Amino acid sequence: MLKFMLSLIFLSCFAFSVNAGGNTLVLLDNLVIRETHSIFFKSLQDRGFTLTFKSADDQSLVLTKYGEYLYDNLIIFAPSVEEFGGALSVETITEFIDEGGNLLVAANVNAGDVLREIASECGFELDEEGAYVIDHHHFDVSDEGLHTTIVASPENLINAPVIVGSKKNLPPLLYQGTGILADPENPLVLPLLTADSTAYSYIPNVPLKEYPHAVGKNVVLIAALQARNNARVVFSGSLDFFSDEYFTSSVQNVQDPAKTVYPKSGNEEVAVAISQWVFKEHGVLRVSSVKHHKVGETTPPNAYTITEDVIYQIKVDKLIDGVWKPYDANDIQLEFVRIDPFVRTTLKHLSGGIYEARFKIPDVYGVYQFKVDYDRIGYTHLYNTTQVSVRPLEHTQYERFIPSAYPYYVSSFSMMFGMFVFSFVFLNYKEDVPKGKSD
Ligand SMILES: *[C@@H]1O[C@H](CO)[C@@H](O)[C@H](O)[C@H]1NC(C)=O
Repeated sequence: MLKFMLSLIFLSCFAFSVNAGGNTLVLLDNLVIRETHSIFFKSLQDRGFTLTFKSADDQSLVLTKYGEYLYDNLIIFAPSVEEFGGALSVETITEFIDEGGNLLVAANVNAGDVLREIASECGFELDEEGAYVIDHHHFDVSDEGLHTTIVASPENLINAPVIVGSKKNLPPLLYQGTGILADPENPLVLPLLTADSTAYSYIPNVPLKEYPHAVGKNVVLIAALQARNNARVVFSGSLDFFSDEYFTSSVQNVQDPAKTVYPKSGNEEVAVAISQWVFKEHGVLRVSSVKHHKVGETTPPNAYTITEDVIYQIKVDKLIDGVWKPYDANDIQLEFVRIDPFVRTTLKHLSGGIYEARFKIPDVYGVYQFKVDYDRIGYTHLYNTTQVSVRPLEHTQYERFIPSAYPYYVSSFSMMFGMFVFSFVFLNYKEDVPKGKSD
């Protein structure tokens, strides 16, 4: 029995230590990509991810077993796949995202139809087959003449360090691949990296017959989606962006007047930061507790009464290296809502991730919600509501004498007094009868 228990403990420790980052299925065009992109995969494994490498057309591919997902994350580094093997399809992958799974896809100019379909399910569009992002003003020295190995400035990264890391002192990024068109109206889609204003996306060496589908900053190189269920998707138009070759390559923009040679591109930093974001190592928040009560009390009442002073506290945590730590911000707001917000106030950070607001309940009764709706780029959407009822005063709670009623009291008493005086005079007044007229 002891042996059995010991082995159980041993097994559970083992399972825990191996799988800190999560199970990740990696689909490849061929297993060579595992070697050509080894730095990227190694950084994932070093962070505790368990990677399962499979060929994208492997007939044994499955995402679920007995209704449970086998993987938390999916990486598709298989640009040329026309159809997935086994039980994988565009539908099963979109279902996987609907269930909260995270997805990282890298395509290239020959991206097959399945990748295009997955992209359009996520709110992006890959440019047509064979179209490269071309930039005659920002290309690398190594480029022989098509100007498709573009040098993207770190300035073109989205302003969200939680997703792409710090832009400070970051060398330029190398990119060769197709352009992505992201729907600018879609609030869930984020352009993580865009091309320079001199770029366009077109098939090289083909005379321009029609206007390119995307030009300048509208050419998105890496796009992201954070779905409403907080599942994350990153789509890169370039598989080479994640390759060992680009990670270690030097960069020199041919058109740079200063001719600066960067010994190493910024690709590795950005690729690692993006993978930390997409697989939910960064930018994950949660509400760990909510408290509310009247000033001077510690437990919430059955119902609040109008104009009472109330205290609301919420504790927000952030995931750091797999541990929930207090989240530090100064822009979390609370709304006290009855259809419309009656009170909107900024929560004050006390300490240890506890945020507090103190306010007076409005002089209107009804069913209200304390609502925290915190949506910041790169962070999971924090939404928490707590319903409370606010009742009017009970009839015993009103004041006995209201100062504003004194004029009425005075008027009724003065009326009574006047009546008394009038009756007295009326009853006792003896009319003078003129002489001679009596009898
Ligand atoms: C708000 O947070 C509290 C504490 O974590 C939780 O019990 C409650 O279910 C949350 N409410 C909603 C609507 O998510």
